[in-house]
Amino acid sequence: RENPNQALYDLHNQAARIYHTMLTSTEEGAKARLYLAERGISDAMIEQFNIGLSLSDLDFFYQSVKHKFEEAVLANSGLVTFAENRIFDSFRGRIMFPLNNEFGQVIAFSGRIWRSEDLDNKQLAKYRNSTLTPIFNKSEALYNLDKAKNSIKKLHEVYLMEGFMDVIAAAENGLSNVVASMGTALTVEHVKKLRQLAQKFVLVYDGDKAGQNAIFKALNLLEANDEVEIVRIPDGLDPDEYNKLYPRALAPLMVNSRLAPVEFLMDYLRPENLSNLQSQLEFIDLMAAKIAAVKSLTAQDAYVKRLVEILPDFEYNQVEAAVNQRRQNVVER
Ligand code: UTP
Ligand code: MN
Ligand code: MN
Ligand code: MN
Ligand code: MN
Repeated sequence: RENPNQALYDLHNQAARIYHTMLTSTEEGAKARLYLAERGISDAMIEQFNIGLSLSDLDFFYQSVKHKFEEAVLANSGLVTFAENRIFDSFRGRIMFPLNNEFGQVIAFSGRIWRSEDLDNKQLAKYRNSTLTPIFNKSEALYNLDKAKNSIKKLHEVYLMEGFMDVIAAAENGLSNVVASMGTALTVEHVKKLRQLAQKFVLVYDGDKAGQNAIFKALNLLEANDEVEIVRIPDGLDPDEYNKLYPRALAPLMVNSRLAPVEFLMDYLRPENLSNLQSQLEFIDLMAAKIAAVKSLTAQDAYVKRLVEILPDFEYNQVEAAVNQRRQNVVER
């Protein structure tokens, strides 16, 4: 018997084809491609990621699929909105990024505004995502997982990024073991799925405050047994902005400039004012626990030394003692 969701898969597959054709062969599409070109997205990337366009018409998409799909399927997909007395396309005037499941079937879309009048309109969300459907669960879905799966397995590590544009920038740089969540923070479902493929998680979030907060949250979500590294994008940029500004520099940065969680935390948790003893003691307390949990004793020692460098009023022995005390706690547990 046919999968009860087959019609939904078929509709999404058709939708991706229609949106892609609208981008590659209409007048409105030519303008949208200029926007993409300005952002550094090549035609090869438009093909590889099957990027598309929803026209600004009220119901172009509905008109092109209404004879092939039942109304219930169209309504269930969320791609068409059935209001009291009118029917219209849910995505209009947006650049469309199809999201595939890990088997490569299209299950949802995210659409980005791009026309100057829309960019000026503070009411519009920059990205609009598909609603939840029987085939799309936002907290499990990972952008690019279908294409990244094999190289994640081969390389034993996965890069986690915040946005579609970041994943595409990494791909443009020759990195294929890269995924992004769909406008949500990292979830346990994401992590469970990725643990089956990778030994190591490399977090490459935005260099702004929100991105740094997201790294902190992800570190709390991941477990002590998970291998984690962090790539910090300089100057508050995100990976796609960094790639635009410094061509061919993103891949070397991602491959070579990685921080251990403790190194990230030493910066992230560091109080603004370290001049008084109390704030130094609190910081030592916080970091000693993190350092004691590091597996390698050599690495622990290096972190202690680095911490001492930051602290104006404490010596190596004092910080080492704090870590030793925590180490005993770790052993006793
Ligand atoms: P960002 O604001 O960092 O967007 O949000 P971005 O990825 O850099 O996008 P560009 O480069 O401006 O095109 C990170 C992610 O959060 C989700 C999207 O998944 C986005 O990629 N998001 C953001 C939304 O779902 N809706 C929004 O309105 C904004
Ligand atoms: Mn094509
Ligand atoms: Mn951001
Ligand atoms: Mn960003
Ligand atoms: Mn960006």
